[in-house]
Amino acid sequence: MHLTSVSVFIDPSRCSACGACIRVCPSEILSLENSTAHAAPDTNSARCLQCGHCMAACPESAITIPDLDPNQHNFSTFALDHAWLPPGKGLPTRDLARLICSRRSCRNYKPIPVEKEKLADLIKLAVFAPSGTNSQAWTFTCLSSRSEVLALGQSIKTFFERLNKQAKNFLLRKSLALVGAKTLDHYYTNYYESVQTAMEQMEKENRDRLFHGAPALILIGSSPGATCPREDALLAAGNILLAAHTMGLGTCLIGYAVAAMAEDRSIQKKLGIPESETIHAAVALGYPDETFERITGRKQPTIRFR
Ligand SMILES: Cc1cc2nc3c(=O)[nH]c(=O)nc-3n(C[C@H](O)[C@H](O)[C@H](O)COP(=O)(O)O)c2cc1C
Repeated sequence: MHLTSVSVFIDPSRCSACGACIRVCPSEILSLENSTAHAAPDTNSARCLQCGHCMAACPESAITIPDLDPNQHNFSTFALDHAWLPPGKGLPTRDLARLICSRRSCRNYKPIPVEKEKLADLIKLAVFAPSGTNSQAWTFTCLSSRSEVLALGQSIKTFFERLNKQAKNFLLRKSLALVGAKTLDHYYTNYYESVQTAMEQMEKENRDRLFHGAPALILIGSSPGATCPREDALLAAGNILLAAHTMGLGTCLIGYAVAAMAEDRSIQKKLGIPESETIHAAVALGYPDETFERITGRKQPTIRFR
């Protein structure tokens, strides 16, 4: 076995020197030496991303990367076919397209808890999303009971009550705008009224206008070191939204929760989330108490072919 400082193990007795690993390595740290693939130690200009491309491409199974946990693709709520799916084979586009077009944000949930095994499997699928420089610096905080979701909702409501009180203050928001801080004025124009209405409905009608009655929530954050933490989190969220649909679950991203947690860091502290982490996405989920009859259209996007 050949151990390099980049934690890529290449077994020379298995390596056939075919070069498949060299072709796919994004960091170009692999080369052939004495008829065996060899991984160069990290330098400032070329660093192993531990992306696993070399391991995935090797026809002789000569490469292992111990940091890649094979359990990440062992699921407890379904059996995965572990064979790699080549582009254009096995999964008809129309089936995936039906899933993509059928997923809708869910805002009515049955009061049934979501099994922890399903939440765990969703997170395993989330981390198969791409991440900038393969940082994989995701953190996932699961609230798996309605009472936990409600408690978070209360903290967020308290934040918005404070914010609305400030935004209602004409002098405060206009004087802030005069010195270039226009956020409060912008919030007042665009969100104040709908947030005020939602909070009144929460209080007077006991309606959960924030999490829509969801019995579970996954907060997706980043730990320090991620190069593109927000993008990574939303890509991971995308996997969760689609996979949840196949598991019979409805989902809804809750941007209001993310905004509140960004402004009031004490909210995440209450959940035991370290200060060094930042929350980028909140996915409410549960068994849907709503059905749809058809796939609808989308607005026309701006598309350019040059
Ligand atoms: C970043 C982001 C934040 C969102 N925040 C909320 C939210 O706070 N509350 C809510 O009910 N829906 C929220 N949504 C859901 C959108 O309203 C929804 O995706 C959009 O209306 C399209 O509908 P669809 O998801 O059913 O396709 C959010 C979506 C995104 C992408």
